[in-house]
Amino acid sequence: MFTFKKNKTNNVIDYTRLPTHIGVIMDGNGRWAKKRGLPRSAGHSAGADTLKKIVTECNKMGIKYITVYAFSTENWKRPKEEVDYLMNLLMSYLKDSERTLSGENVVIKAIGIREELSDELQEQIKKTEKFTQNNTGIIMNIALNYGAREEIVRAAKEIAREAAEKKIDINDINADTISSHLYTKNQPDPDFIIRTSGEERLSNFLLWQAAYSELWFCDKLWPDFTIKDLHRSIIDFQARGRRFGGV
Ligand code: IPE
Ligand code: IPE
Ligand code: MG
Repeated sequence: MFTFKKNKTNNVIDYTRLPTHIGVIMDGNGRWAKKRGLPRSAGHSAGADTLKKIVTECNKMGIKYITVYAFSTENWKRPKEEVDYLMNLLMSYLKDSERTLSGENVVIKAIGIREELSDELQEQIKKTEKFTQNNTGIIMNIALNYGAREEIVRAAKEIAREAAEKKIDINDINADTISSHLYTKNQPDPDFIIRTSGEERLSNFLLWQAAYSELWFCDKLWPDFTIKDLHRSIIDFQARGRRFGGV
């Protein structure tokens, strides 16, 4: 008789095989608030608290990189009131991180189109990056006004410029050339991407870098996501067979 052989799944994390770079699409803040009869802003604020817990845990576990999707290039379509709230929240998150996450040795970087952000926020980003640059713990990329298509277009323009200036030969352009012109240059691609809230799409997040990422979805809304959920996701990641096109 034909029977399915269940993959052997351990219930403990193998700390020698952690993902190197985790991407997180923190989705569901608005629905979390709605369920409680609260304004969407309350969901964003609760989501920021969850983020601190998760980054702290990833750092403790020894994960080297985390990229979190905080605001997409498409999120400007939201009502002005919500966008303003998110920008203020990001500002206080960055300020606060200098005390909290920096004390935990986290390196904070922002990726995305900075020039479109307010002068104050741009200043704060610079300050927080400088403040944490010599830390030696997890590298946290905050994707803020980030869109993968914009990132790739920007890379293409830079490469074209370098070719026009004869700094590079067109025949030498390869996948590494593209990678080294992205916001995430010098960082490994994410091997694992988590998205909460039941949506199963990338929504313009790290499209180039996610070519071989393992994707993991859960129904929980981001403010409800716990350290236990993170552990569960990593155990699932470790049970997957990654083949990169091989056998
Ligand atoms: C994710 O939660 C946070 C941001 C996009 C800034 P949402 O605000 O998208 O929450 P839902 O998807 O509407 O529930
Ligand atoms: C993706 O979530 C962006 C962030 C989490 C910041 P969205 O809620 O904006 O994505 P869609 O609209 O559901 O695809
Ligand atoms: Mg959403």
